[in-house]
Amino acid sequence: MSALSVKHLLGIKGLNLDDIQLIFKTAVDFKQVINRPIKRLPTLRDVTIANAFFENSTRTRLSFELAEKRLSADVINFSSSGSSVSKGETLLDTVNNLIAMKVDMIVMRHQHPGAAYFLSQHVNATILNAGDGTHEHPTQGLLDAFSMRERHGEFKGLRVAIIGDILHSRVALSNIFCLNKLGAEVMVCGPATLIPKYISSLGVKVEYNVEKALAWCDVANVLRIQLERQQGGYFPSLREYNLSFGVTMERLSKLNKSITIMHPGPINRGVEIDSDVADSQHSIILDQVENGVAIRMAVLYLLSSGSQPA
Ligand code: CP
Repeated sequence: MSALSVKHLLGIKGLNLDDIQLIFKTAVDFKQVINRPIKRLPTLRDVTIANAFFENSTRTRLSFELAEKRLSADVINFSSSGSSVSKGETLLDTVNNLIAMKVDMIVMRHQHPGAAYFLSQHVNATILNAGDGTHEHPTQGLLDAFSMRERHGEFKGLRVAIIGDILHSRVALSNIFCLNKLGAEVMVCGPATLIPKYISSLGVKVEYNVEKALAWCDVANVLRIQLERQQGGYFPSLREYNLSFGVTMERLSKLNKSITIMHPGPINRGVEIDSDVADSQHSIILDQVENGVAIRMAVLYLLSSGSQPA
């Protein structure tokens, strides 16, 4: 197989196993390229890509931009702050203006679930979802699974615990969809208030005790406590969260095995994960960031065929 089954990347849910394996195979090649002295390929020359970020981002925005530049695309960046969105311009008008400037592909982060799907139905450009509210963050799910594969090889029999704020997390949902398709076993763990009631219907185990989750898993993917979305009083204080659910060296040292520690970032040090764990030999957090560029190059390349000049 040499082409994806989809025209847009809206979520992992819409990908099949062959798509995911093709993205991984392509990312392996691009990872070699970005570790060479000359990192740039002409692949997307004359393709114009807009990174439209209606919500804050560091890793995803810079990683997409770097991936686009490594493939020689023309890149423009749009942030809602400082733009005419603040004057009341609609999402559709904003994006149609970008397309009128001959943009071929749009990488979009938006606070509303379904925003990327909405655009894909209404505009004539390839849409890549860079995170839509609490729904999906497909390239994060792909780069997380790719990083697990690098460390552990096969997914069959691999036990992955996703620990933290599952309720508000698009990363959790994309990880679950991706790991289920790849055949890993998945558990979610966190306070009951931050675990959605429907989650076990997605075929994951649910655990409310972080020590038991750590003892069960081979990989702990620790999620950020989304400080901006905690107005509901989901737990008494950040200190109490750390005491009850924090991934700490004390908890890891009680395990009779070594587990892989992951975090999509940004990290709240001393809340969901302690600094000595995040910076330890168990952690592959910066490998995830490196792999993010290769995965995004792969996705851009595989989706670009309709955007390439003849
Ligand atoms: N992991 C992630 O999405 O980070 P940013 O919000 O910084 O892009």
